[in-house]
Amino acid sequence: MRILAIETSCDDTCIAIVEASPRRGSKIPHFRVLANVISSQTEIHKKYGGVVPSLAKRAHQENLVTVLEKALGEAGMKLSPSAKSYTKGQSKIKNAGKILEREPELLEQFIKTVVPIPKPKINFIAVTHGPGLEPALWAGINFARALSYWWRIPLLGVDHMEGHIAANFLHTGKVEFPAIVLAVSGGHTQLILVKDILKYKLIGETVDDAAGEGFDKVARMLGLSFPGGPKIAKSAKGGNPKAFDFPRPMLHSKDYNFSFSGLKTAVLYTIRDLTVTSKIKKDIAASFQQAAVDVLIAKTIRAAEEYKVKTIMLAGGVAANEELRKQFGEVIKKELPDTLYKIPHTSLATDNAAMIAAAAYFRRNKATLTRWKTLKANGNLKIG
Ligand code: KG4
Ligand code: ZN
Repeated sequence: MRILAIETSCDDTCIAIVEASPRRGSKIPHFRVLANVISSQTEIHKKYGGVVPSLAKRAHQENLVTVLEKALGEAGMKLSPSAKSYTKGQSKIKNAGKILEREPELLEQFIKTVVPIPKPKINFIAVTHGPGLEPALWAGINFARALSYWWRIPLLGVDHMEGHIAANFLHTGKVEFPAIVLAVSGGHTQLILVKDILKYKLIGETVDDAAGEGFDKVARMLGLSFPGGPKIAKSAKGGNPKAFDFPRPMLHSKDYNFSFSGLKTAVLYTIRDLTVTSKIKKDIAASFQQAAVDVLIAKTIRAAEEYKVKTIMLAGGVAANEELRKQFGEVIKKELPDTLYKIPHTSLATDNAAMIAAAAYFRRNKATLTRWKTLKANGNLKIG
């Protein structure tokens, strides 16, 4: 079974084609990533210090067709124009035009590039419908709707966070339930109990900033460019994580919620009262990172113990953080040695469409030929 997935919830334009085949003894199939194209908009948003939704939408509209062409090419699917495609007639093109009426540039490229190529061998199309920036989500959704209508391929909407969790399944069939997921991205910090495939219970989340947001904001204070997570991680390598004793907010609170705003403020005050040399900058980065990592690990371990889980998984952009991955592994080995520990490949932790395809596989029964008529963006979509 082949799935074409589209992801435009934030600032990356992503299209992937993933093949899934059943795996004996596991609910998780063998996934083969045939194409996973990511067109980053970092250069566009960098000067604003964060993602500007209207600019993200524009860039998605400009890039989607090129990214699709690249993905089909990588997956070895035919791109040469076929006479058959044109015979669908003007009325069908007109209807596709209605779907893309708010994306004139995308429509122009659609007619020029997608209309002439043959229908690819894809079983269904999946697109992120939330959570995320609504203008950005709409670009991907309307493109997916037009493709579904034009090719007559069933369509379904996928939850972005479910995608992050499913990134773990792209390279392993060995996940035992119940599992706990620490989902940490630019917009979310959540502890999710996964009782079984598709059975989620949100047991805790951030009460203010998301973990990734914390990394991005502290990076900005230190004069490091957007997105800050990888920059902080790099700078921290040369620093002392014990140099500054930053707070570990809510470390001992009885619930499973997080808070990163106080930690961010503590860093701000430290910077304000110091002359920040390049050595101090590295020490601040390392100490901040350690404070965040300590809280994330401690709370997840406590939840894992309480819910007696068999697997601990990381998900989301911050799961690309080397120290978090490493230290988490060490703590689990020491404190919960019988628990499986799963982390997505570093390149699949941050936003991509292969993870959306993986999540879509489990929801495939919801894909329909008429979904293009009803699918909508929901910026605040919540898992569970
Ligand atoms: O999941 P993601 O790609 O996009 C959202 O859904 O938000 O996550 C992006 C977030 C950003 O805040 C970025 O700074 C952070 O993940 N991030 C990292 C690392 N790589 C990305 N944070 C810490 N260390 C990293 N290596
Ligand atoms: Zn994400």
